Amino acid sequence: MASEALAIGTGAARATGHGAQPALALLLLLLLLGPWLPAVVPRAPPLFNISLDAAPEQRWVPMLQHYDPDFLRATVAQVIGDRVPQWVFKMIEEVVSKVESFLPQPFTDEIHGMCNFLNVSLAEGILVNLAYEASAFCTSIVAQDSQGHIYHGRNLDYPFGNALRKVTVDVQFIKNGQIAFTGTTFVGYVGLWTGQSPHKFTISGDERDKGSWWENMIAALSLGHSPISWLIRRTLSESESFEAAVYALAKTPLIADVYYIVGGTSPREGVVITRDRGGPADIWPLDPLNGAWFRVETNYDHWKPVPKRDDRRTPAIKALNETGQAHISLEALFQVLSVFPVYNNYTIYTTVMSAAEPDRYMTRIRNPS
Ligand SMILES: *[C@@H]1O[C@H](CO)[C@@H](O)[C@H](O)[C@H]1NC(C)=O
Ligand SMILES: *[C@@H]1O[C@H](CO)[C@@H](O)[C@H](O)[C@H]1NC(C)=O
Ligand SMILES: *[C@@H]1O[C@H](CO)[C@@H](O)[C@H](O)[C@H]1NC(C)=O
Ligand SMILES: *[C@@H]1O[C@H](CO)[C@@H](O)[C@H](O)[C@H]1NC(C)=O
Repeated sequence: MASEALAIGTGAARATGHGAQPALALLLLLLLLGPWLPAVVPRAPPLFNISLDAAPEQRWVPMLQHYDPDFLRATVAQVIGDRVPQWVFKMIEEVVSKVESFLPQPFTDEIHGMCNFLNVSLAEGILVNLAYEASAFCTSIVAQDSQGHIYHGRNLDYPFGNALRKVTVDVQFIKNGQIAFTGTTFVGYVGLWTGQSPHKFTISGDERDKGSWWENMIAALSLGHSPISWLIRRTLSESESFEAAVYALAKTPLIADVYYIVGGTSPREGVVITRDRGGPADIWPLDPLNGAWFRVETNYDHWKPVPKRDDRRTPAIKALNETGQAHISLEALFQVLSVFPVYNNYTIYTTVMSAAEPDRYMTRIRNPS
């Protein structure tokens, strides 16, 4: 126990750049916290490079080789079992060969390559990649400090997440030897719910639950609408500026509703986009000149009250108010995202990022078991 705490204590201190004395203080704090220790000590997920210059079928294989294939197959089966009704699975198995040619690239070829490697069916691979479209509860915050710097943070919450914590990864997508964009995802999942285009913009997605029905989703997919997380990745890959990213995220037809939260690099570049499948329902930018130096989005339309049974919005706003615009930073944002119930038993990971300082992109696994 003590030696574990010591190792963790020095690791955490190194990560935040403090010296030996704070490490000792942290160690004492951890010892005092005793049994709650695992819940309060976050660790970084593994970081992988994925080469966009490699063929889509091949590019994820080097990452998969770091994982036990039996464990990954069991995770696939578990996610599908939890999320996908049996009749949908049957239907998908039948239609997937027909739908396949409609599905966007490079995503479908990437899924194909991973399914071949793991020896699971393409239907299972596609279902796992769609299963999160209606599942995650989240909190995203975009904020501007007194100097005009933009910060963006998110918690991704998901029930039954123990397997997901073990497959959470940070990924750098490499093009011509350079980092084209960065994201956080789960092994086997080709879309992104969280990502950064360096020196341009950052994006997170939060579920907007309007009772998404599988048959509607599948129908929209065959009409060429994009899965939510695939549009985030496509936008990170293709959009040249904050404005272009907001436009793409607001307009592109989707298979389900969602909230997209976007941060830029210049003052006032921060926005919450409330999406219907067909287009934007609402655009809610930062308005720092009128005191709105942050925007908080959980899983409810911002112009409506939050349900009492799930109010993560008010505690987040309270914590941001207490922090103050002059003191907001990536570290302070991480603290806000660590306040109960913004941070809760379902939180899988927290990411904080700022497109102007891409090297500071940071993800931590929460509630590690
Ligand atoms: C792949 O899966 C099929 C069907 O489940 C099975 O018959 C085959 O032996 C598996 N191959 C490998 C290499 O595991
Ligand atoms: C990932 O690629 C970048 C850019 O080529 C390189 O600097 C870095 O060392 C690579 N990191 C890993 C973990 O392979
Ligand atoms: C946060 O501060 C604003 C502006 O002072 C205030 O209107 C709002 O009620 C505060 N909200 C909370 C939850 O503290
Ligand atoms: C969260 O998990 C802890 C430890 O397992 C448990 O004691 C607590 O009741 C849980 N809280 C909620 C709100 O479910």
